[in-house]
Amino acid sequence: MKKTLVLLTILSSFAFAKTMYVFDIKSKLFDPTNKSEVGEIYEGTPVKVIKQDGNLTLIEVVGEVTADNESMVAYKKDPLVTFYNLKNTKAQPKAKFFIDSEDLTDGEYASWEEIELMYYDSCSSCHAAHKPKEHKMNEWDAYLSAMQFFAKITDEERDRILRFLQAYASDGIAKEEE
Ligand code: HEC
Repeated sequence: MKKTLVLLTILSSFAFAKTMYVFDIKSKLFDPTNKSEVGEIYEGTPVKVIKQDGNLTLIEVVGEVTADNESMVAYKKDPLVTFYNLKNTKAQPKAKFFIDSEDLTDGEYASWEEIELMYYDSCSSCHAAHKPKEHKMNEWDAYLSAMQFFAKITDEERDRILRFLQAYASDGIAKEEE
C-alpha cells in the first residue's frame, strides 16, 4: 500500500513537472508575482513547467550562475550553454518565471533546429561541417573564435552558434539526436 502511494506521488510529480524547451531565439521572462519583465531566456533552454496561467506558463529553470556575469545563468558557470540573463538583478541557480506559452515546445530538437540550419549554412562552405559531438563543450569556444573571421558571422551569430555546438557537444546537454 505504502509503495503504491509513493509510486503514485512520483508519477504525478513527473507529469506535473514536465520538461519543455524555449522555442524562440530569445523569449521574455516575467516576474512570478507581479509579471513585470525581468530578463530574457534563450532557445533550446530546458525548463520545468509548473502551471499554466492564461497565455503565460510558470516555469522553473535550474543552472549555474556564471563566473563573469552574476545576472546570467548557464548550464555550467564557465559559462557553457547560456540559459538566461536578467536585466537588473542577481540570478539564482534555481528560479521561477513566467514565459509566453507560445515560446515553449515539447521537442528538444525542434528548439535547436533553426540554429542548426544556420550553423550548416555558415560553416560548411569550405570544409564539411564538423559535427558538434566531435568536441567537448569547452573546446567549441576556441574553434568558433578561430573560424568567425572565415565564416563572416557577427558576434551575435557566433554566440548563437556556440550555444548550439555546446548543447550538442559530446558532453553537452541535448539528448535528442540532431
Ligand atoms: C572560408 C572558409 C571557412 C569557413 C567558412 C569555415 N572554416 Fe573552419 N576551417 C577552415 C580551414 C582552412 C580549416 C583548416 C585550417 C585551420 O585549422 O586553420 C578549418 C578548420 C576547422 C576546424 C578544425 C580545426 C582542427 O584543428 O581540427 C573546425 C572545428 C572548424 N574549422 C570549424 C568551423 C566552424 C564552426 C565554422 C563556422 C563558424 C567554420 N569552420 C567555417 C576554413 C573555413
